[in-house]
Amino acid sequence: MRIILDTDPGIDDALAILFIAAQEDMEIVAVGSVHGNVPAPTAADNALRVLDLAGLTEVPVAVGAARPLAQDLGTSEIVHGDDGLGGQAGPPSARKPVTISAAEQIVRLARENPGELTLLALGPLTNVALALLLEPRLPHLLKAVMVLGGALAVPGNVTPNAEANIWHDPEAADLVLGAGFENLTLTSLDVTETARADDAWLSALAEVPTHRAQFATGLLKHYTAFYTRMCGYRTCTIHDPLAAVLLQDPSLAEYREAVVSVELRGTHTRGQLISDCRAIADDTGIKSQAAQGRKPVRAVVSVDTKAFLSRLFEALK
Ligand code: BDR
Ligand code: CA
Repeated sequence: MRIILDTDPGIDDALAILFIAAQEDMEIVAVGSVHGNVPAPTAADNALRVLDLAGLTEVPVAVGAARPLAQDLGTSEIVHGDDGLGGQAGPPSARKPVTISAAEQIVRLARENPGELTLLALGPLTNVALALLLEPRLPHLLKAVMVLGGALAVPGNVTPNAEANIWHDPEAADLVLGAGFENLTLTSLDVTETARADDAWLSALAEVPTHRAQFATGLLKHYTAFYTRMCGYRTCTIHDPLAAVLLQDPSLAEYREAVVSVELRGTHTRGQLISDCRAIADDTGIKSQAAQGRKPVRAVVSVDTKAFLSRLFEALK
């Protein structure tokens, strides 16, 4: 599987890169950074650092959107540390980002490889939305899209209703979720929050003496401290790697088709995902959003958490 990665590293983004790097059947063709956990230029620098560490020193990194489409920039250093990597960023890579933007890079690669590439979006969807504006045929040029974001039937993690990646750019998310991608899977908080790393998993990783496992453990320190403060016991939710693992092995999850839109105007609900399951009940005569033209996406509804955590552990060892 050949992947364009759109990402805002970000601790769990970095772990997703390490996971993919350890898989023989997954190849990162290019990376685009996006604002989100940190500003886009910092995210690009972090992506270069993590790719270097994973031995992927040829993968190009493009800097992406500096801000959301229709709101001010907001970042999440409180979760990911000032450097976005929990204080573990270290010296910069000797490499520099390429000179085109992340959106241009998506469009160029999709046009050059029609039907071949999978887009894995682990941050706010601004770059993907901009790519759609540049190339309206994008939904037919990509083989598949995996989006990490949103909360369907569970609370959000930024507001009571909104998940971070959607919250950071609701307009972009709505554009992408309604763009008619042939094969778009949504991995939301509904499942990532069921796949938390616990004390035993974190301690076992800390005991592995390899450079990779020690780097991952260092990354997870700040992140786990944040979640532990919130939950009252030692844990953290490793969101982004779950999307990468499900890309590789979709059989680890169950899915439901849903037409998904983003609430853009609610006073208290901006950034909430509205999932219209009536799309599957068109024969009842109810005029659903699907009937009005928005294509359903494939939402992950449950996941084999044990298998996920064990595959991630194997990759990080
Ligand atoms: C998402 O928000 C970011 O903090 C994480 O990297 C993940 O992509 C989870 O809500
Ligand atoms: Ca992310």
